[in-house]
Amino acid sequence: ELKDYDHYMLKEIFEQPESLRNTMRGRLSEDMATAVFGGLNLTPQDLLKVKRIVFTACGTSWHSAMVGEYLIEEIAQIPVEVEYASELRYRNPPMDESTLIFAITQSGETADTLAALREMKRKGHPTMAICNVVGSSIAQEADGGIYLHAGPEIGVASTKAYSSQCLALTLLALYLGRLRHLSYNKGRAMIERIKEVPDLVEKALESNTKCREVAEKYKDCNNFLYLGRHYNFPTALEGALKLKEISYIHAEGYPAAEMKHGPIALVDEQTPSVFVMPHGFIYEKVMSNLEEIKARGGPVIAIAAEGDERIAEVADDVIYIPQTVEYLQPIVSAIPLQLLSYHIAVLRGCDVDKPRNLAKSVTVE
Ligand code: M6R
Repeated sequence: ELKDYDHYMLKEIFEQPESLRNTMRGRLSEDMATAVFGGLNLTPQDLLKVKRIVFTACGTSWHSAMVGEYLIEEIAQIPVEVEYASELRYRNPPMDESTLIFAITQSGETADTLAALREMKRKGHPTMAICNVVGSSIAQEADGGIYLHAGPEIGVASTKAYSSQCLALTLLALYLGRLRHLSYNKGRAMIERIKEVPDLVEKALESNTKCREVAEKYKDCNNFLYLGRHYNFPTALEGALKLKEISYIHAEGYPAAEMKHGPIALVDEQTPSVFVMPHGFIYEKVMSNLEEIKARGGPVIAIAAEGDERIAEVADDVIYIPQTVEYLQPIVSAIPLQLLSYHIAVLRGCDVDKPRNLAKSVTVE
């Protein structure tokens, strides 16, 4: 089963070009310049009445929900909120009948996510699941949804399910956008970009050797910061969680510009900052955030676009990934962060597939 890989986590990281192809298979209609879903069980008329979307999830799935918020607000112009399932289940936020709920979950068995979904369903809201495991509790109880088709994920650290969640949410944003403001031409242009994703991920996987080198250099640090802005902010949170859960190193993810409001006090020579900064409209701003860290003596590891020579002058280490449009960067940028955590954990002798204190699905509250 493991074939040539030492761990399931590494195998699953390398499976991503394929799992992403499976997530998008049959779901892009060039003719209609939109995405196609078989299982939403909501008509376009139902969807036009939706005025607000709430995503609920835990852990890594909560991070993909944040990516979904950015995507759907930008592309479909529908207000989105992201709620931790463990909080939503006991809160009583005002929600009118035009609110649509999405539970995002790899396993479909997370107790808090299931409870939040049930509570929202009880209140009469339509509930959807974005789920990997077919026939799981959440998939069964939701009124409809989207299966990821990423294949079984064995490693406790979610990797391929995360990238497939981000991709499914991109397709959802395209579909909802095309029901509203997004033109035929813009829909077609999005499809062209989306189709490139598996190949871009394949290229991003070529950073493996570099990630291993960087891991060797920083493996003994006890604190890491992960920083990014806009679409790369949820990626920073996800990078920090990956490192925490499998290497037991303390890591924090922040929107890069929030550093000056407190966390910058943590920066010293032993605290590396991982900047997620492929090209985009926010690049110059992130560059100034990076310079603030350098000025305080903090080592900087940059995840940057191929061909970005300027970053090599300022960062201590650069891991290059292929450039893509901003809304697809979460998928491509996640790859080196997964690899970096994997190598650091292996070098520290940790059990990457079964980290201490954790289970693959959290079926208790
Ligand atoms: O199966 P789910 O997506 O509902 O699981 C949610 C979290 O427990 C899960 O993402 C967890 O954070 C992972 N270990 C992260 O890698």
